[in-house]
Amino acid sequence: MCGIVGYAGGREAQQILLDCLKRLEYRGYDSSGIAVVGADLQLFKSKGEIAVLESSMPVMKGSFGIAHTRWATQGKPTTENAHPLADCSNRFAVVHNGIISNFMDLRESLQKDGHTFSSETDTEVFSHLVESEYKGDLLEAVRNALKRVDGTYAFAVVTHGKDEVVAARNESPLVIGLGDGENFLASDVTALLKYTNLMVYMSDGEVARITKDSVTILDREGREVKREPQRISWSLDDAEKGGYPHFMLKEIFEQPNAIHESMLGRVESLESEPFFQGSPFSSVKIIACGTSYHAGLTGKYILEELSRTPTTVQISSEYRYSTASRENPLVVLVTQSGETLDTMAAAREARKRGHRTVGIANVMGSAITREVDHVIYTRAGPEIGVAATKTFVTQLVAMYLLGMDLGMQTKAMSAQGKRSMIGQLRNLPRAVQDVLNQADEIEALAKKYSSAKDMFFIGRNINYPIALEGALKTKEISYIHGEGFPAGELKHGPLALLSKDSPVVAVAVKDHTYEKMLGNISEVSARGSPVIAIGFEGDTELAKYADDVIYIREIPPLFSPVPVIVVLQLLAYYLARERGCPIDKPKNIAKTVTVE
Ligand code: F6R
Repeated sequence: MCGIVGYAGGREAQQILLDCLKRLEYRGYDSSGIAVVGADLQLFKSKGEIAVLESSMPVMKGSFGIAHTRWATQGKPTTENAHPLADCSNRFAVVHNGIISNFMDLRESLQKDGHTFSSETDTEVFSHLVESEYKGDLLEAVRNALKRVDGTYAFAVVTHGKDEVVAARNESPLVIGLGDGENFLASDVTALLKYTNLMVYMSDGEVARITKDSVTILDREGREVKREPQRISWSLDDAEKGGYPHFMLKEIFEQPNAIHESMLGRVESLESEPFFQGSPFSSVKIIACGTSYHAGLTGKYILEELSRTPTTVQISSEYRYSTASRENPLVVLVTQSGETLDTMAAAREARKRGHRTVGIANVMGSAITREVDHVIYTRAGPEIGVAATKTFVTQLVAMYLLGMDLGMQTKAMSAQGKRSMIGQLRNLPRAVQDVLNQADEIEALAKKYSSAKDMFFIGRNINYPIALEGALKTKEISYIHGEGFPAGELKHGPLALLSKDSPVVAVAVKDHTYEKMLGNISEVSARGSPVIAIGFEGDTELAKYADDVIYIREIPPLFSPVPVIVVLQLLAYYLARERGCPIDKPKNIAKTVTVE
């Protein structure tokens, strides 16, 4: 959950590394550091955000180097524990994402051999391992050092006297950016977009030597790997704030376009090019974490409605504890980053159990895309804000597409049904735009309720998981304690928590749950809690029950989660802004979770 960059080229490395590193700050921001190779190996680190590093570092001359922004997992966030970490002789500098699980044993054995340690990190063992394996060839030293390492990693290593950056990957993302007379390395493509959009993704077990004119990749056995570079269509603008005060707000406003992109060219071709042909599965199992799990829960309603295929949903980290059943489900792994370690582990487990797997991912070439039989890309573009917004909405689009695909195969969906689905999907960007046009009203509501300590979110049927997602967004960025419930559950416990200081957000669109939702809203009001309802335009009844109402365009209920979640994203965003929270980088959480 840290960010890595590397540079090998003809220009001064320091500013380029810093520039790229700033684009990765969302991956970790408790400390950072840089190593530049010139006449000697220069290394500088500091605690705090990258701005602290920038303002305190000396000028470093040299055209090769590595840099790192950290989110601590092993060892406190201090300057000593910041990366790069050097060996005893300060000849090798290492940056690392991931966890070396056998680092205690390695540290003990290296100490017995006379190595002295200057940090509490697992990473430092690697600098000492490279030091002891080095016989003049850095890549060979890294390969030999890796033989002793258990765990997950993306490593980048430099040494004095070698005009190269050596990189290694196992379950932690690394991408090589190709330039003209210069090459780059990063844990995330967005770091490099200012300099290049031609990328080579590294795979697990690979080691690479990057010089200014060449890139050599070796597989686990030491064989050279030839891999075609991919041209990434994301522009630098895509990865920057574009005039919005926060990435999160920019990404919320990008949703009409993201939905459009996600559908582009797909809905029409589903019949001629189905995702799965002659598929031998009788059920679907969706596996994911966090917001992606909520997309999975919503997906269950969509898939069952459109294809009548029984669908279950499981949290990734729990999948390994489930017993293999006699069922042979199609396993759908949902992960916007494509790198979440628990979801990767679940993908491997599903394959071990012999299931067909589909990944729903936003990042091209990410780890999950190499682990599954089929990938549905969500095409939301880069999402920098830690809170998932446009990736969630496009995951829902992927669920509609998957539901249609399965529905046509199971014959649960007729040609007429398909035509109507396509029309409704095409209306979604407009329904979302309507919500965005009400941003000022939602901001005013956020001002009214910003001193709340707790907020509850209720919904029924397909809007129940949307209540869960609204609560997650609220707690993670505004730090208001948010809880989502199926509205019918209120009376089984949560009602005890209600008071005038705990507003309740109720999703009450006009579907077959509407009357019951009105009943729940009355229950809540009777306990003195203010109610913010979300309903369909033209519903004059709702305002009689709720204190405040946000209206969305009337659309078929199956699609209502999309505009409803946009209301809840905006509400969470403005609550957080009103409370002065660090919206794009909430405390204690990171964008890509590559630890279990
Ligand atoms: C919340 C959020 C997280 C992620 C979760 C899974 O806003 O972003 O809950 O959804 O960490 O991440 P991915 O989708 O990358 O697997």
